[in-house]
Amino acid sequence: MANLIDGKAVSAAVKAQVKTECEALKSEGVTVGLAVVIVGDNPASRVYVNNKKKACAEVGFESYEYALPEETTQQELLELVDKLNGDSKVNGILVQLPLPRHIDENAVINAISPVKDVDAFHPRNVGHIMIGDYAFLPCTPAGVMELIASTGVEVEGKNCVVIGRSNIVGKPMAMLLLHKNGTVTITHSRTKNLKEICAGADILVAAVGKAGFVTEDMVKPGAVVIDVGMNRNAEGKLCGDVDFEACKEKARYITPVPGGVGPMTIAMLMRNTLTAARIQRK
Ligand code: GUN
Repeated sequence: MANLIDGKAVSAAVKAQVKTECEALKSEGVTVGLAVVIVGDNPASRVYVNNKKKACAEVGFESYEYALPEETTQQELLELVDKLNGDSKVNGILVQLPLPRHIDENAVINAISPVKDVDAFHPRNVGHIMIGDYAFLPCTPAGVMELIASTGVEVEGKNCVVIGRSNIVGKPMAMLLLHKNGTVTITHSRTKNLKEICAGADILVAAVGKAGFVTEDMVKPGAVVIDVGMNRNAEGKLCGDVDFEACKEKARYITPVPGGVGPMTIAMLMRNTLTAARIQRK
C-alpha cells in the first residue's frame, strides 16, 4: 500500500506562507488583489472560481469577480481585460477556461498583461518557462512539483512520464521536470506502447481527463504517481485519471482525487498573485 500524498496539507503550508508575506506587504500599505473572470455557467468552472475566491480570502487578498453571461462577445471580454490591465488594485488577472466556443481563448490570453498573468498562460511567460527563468509558475505543474518534493524523492536522473500534452498541464509539466534534471517523456493519445512507457516511469504524471485511464499494469512498483485528472465516473463521483484502488498497491507514493493536485493549483495561484503584486510595486 502506497503512501498518500496529502495535497491539502502541502497546499495549507504554501498558503500559510503566502498569508504571512501578504501581511508583511499590508503593513507597508500594499493590498494584493486578484480579478477572477468567468464567462457562462459551466458548473465545474463555477466550483473552481468559488474555490479561488475562498483561497484569496484565506491568505488576505482582495478578490474581484466578473461573472459574465454566456453570450458575452470576444470584444466585450477583451475590453474588460484591458480595463483590468489598467486597474492598479488588480495585481493578477485570471480568466477561467474553457471559454464559450465563440471566443478565441488565445486572443484573450494574449491580451492579459504579462505582469498580471498569474496563470502563466501568456506566450511571453510560456517562453520564460521554456528557458527556465521565470517569475510566474504554471500553477498545476508547479503544484505537482511541490507534491513530488514533499515525498523526498529526487527528480534528478529519474524516468519521468507525463501523460497529456496540453498547454495548461502536460507541456509545462515536462519543462519543470526537465529543469530538475528528470529524463522526461511526454506521451499522448497517439503514443505507441503507452502502457510499456508508463510502466518504466519512476515518476508518472497523469493529465488525460479520462477516469480510470491509468491501470495497475502501467505503474512501476515503487513509482510516484501523480493524478491531475478531475473527472466524474458513471455514478457522478469525483475521480482522477488513475485507477486509485488498484494502483495504490503498486506505487510508493500516490495522490488521491480529491485532495491531491487540486488544492495545490490554487495554492500556487496565490503564490503567483503575491509575486505579481511584488513585481508591480517595483
Ligand atoms: N481551467 C482549468 N484549469 C485552469 C487554470 O489553471 N486556469 C484557468 N484560468 N482556467 C483553468
